[in-house]
Amino acid sequence: RVVAVIMVGGPTKGTRFRPLSLNVPKPLFPLAGQPMVHHHISACRRIPNLAQIYLIGFYEEREFALYVSSISNELRIPVRYLREDKPRGSAGGLYSFRDYIMEDSPAHIVLLNCDVCSSFPLPDMLEAHKKYGGMGTLLVNKVSAESANQFGELVADPETNELLHYTEKPETFVSDLINCGVYIFTPKILIAIEDVLKQKKDRANLRRVSSFEALQSATKAIPADYVRLDQDILSPLAGKKELYTYQTLDFWEQIKTPGMSLRCSGLYLSQFRHTSPHLLASGDGKKGATIVGDVYIHPSAKVHLTAKIGPNVSISANARIGAGARLISCIILDDVEIMENAVVIHSIVGWKSTVGKWSRVQTG
Ligand code: GDD
Repeated sequence: RVVAVIMVGGPTKGTRFRPLSLNVPKPLFPLAGQPMVHHHISACRRIPNLAQIYLIGFYEEREFALYVSSISNELRIPVRYLREDKPRGSAGGLYSFRDYIMEDSPAHIVLLNCDVCSSFPLPDMLEAHKKYGGMGTLLVNKVSAESANQFGELVADPETNELLHYTEKPETFVSDLINCGVYIFTPKILIAIEDVLKQKKDRANLRRVSSFEALQSATKAIPADYVRLDQDILSPLAGKKELYTYQTLDFWEQIKTPGMSLRCSGLYLSQFRHTSPHLLASGDGKKGATIVGDVYIHPSAKVHLTAKIGPNVSISANARIGAGARLISCIILDDVEIMENAVVIHSIVGWKSTVGKWSRVQTG
């Protein structure tokens, strides 16, 4: 059996996503009309023998309650939100819920960062992971040399795909092959995290012996129970025949800022052509507005016959799009009104706002 875990972080993590994350937790912000985390959940659904999906974060439980119950019913797979009492780092968070994760005695744990956009080739990755026979397999991607330092950079054996070297966001260039934040582990990962936790606690106890160092560690303080998957686990395990890589040849992006969400919304819309064509507005132009390229329109939204929409447009619940309006590459959120002949290009229009007639909203 397989259990999937999606690390959703918490309100203090989503600050670069402001102001959009002030209204809705970043993992629930809509991309291609579906909450960001919905795309991860749909991808997990394609894994054979999937027993449970857990979302781990430190948002209030009530912020996720409605979503997890509706998605569990819709997909007929148990999806649960587990709330951390405080941030423990990506590995610390996983470890703190080990009893839940091991409930179904899974042979494999799929771990996903929430703030990435990908086709998530999980079934193929799982097959590769089984063949490698290691403790973990990382999804990796090639990016431009200039942007690589925003990610975990790594070196892999071209023959065996073993992870040979790993550095998190290095100051000097190591490699243009980066960590995508998508992993498959065996339950041995929990033991590896436990070992690191023990080492950290021992070191913290030792430090207490010297009062000067104790003062120093109290001021810089990364708490002893805070374990980061990348620096604390992946780096030391590289080159030990425990970790392997699987390179994606499909799309992958990180989603840190609102601007990135527009691009990711477009990527998911184009993926719908293969995975969920029923979610795309049809472009026949006979019954409704003129549709250009990939467009999502929520069933409760009202779009005037003479509006022209697309490409890369997603329109959320109860939005109203007036006569002659033109929308290109944008996300229109719930309850928005776009009045007659307004033009919106490359923009996100926030909840309940109105764009007046003949206005033009354009960024970038
Ligand atoms: N539940 C929980 N608790 N989630 C957390 C915590 C925590 O304490 N800390 C981070 N996360 C979640 C974030 O919400 C995000 O989805 C994911 O874990 C990774 O966040 P960061 O730890 O801030 O790392 P990053 O996004 O800067 O970089 C990581 O991802 C890149 C790919 O997007 C690293 O793994 C990089 O190596 C990698 O390239």
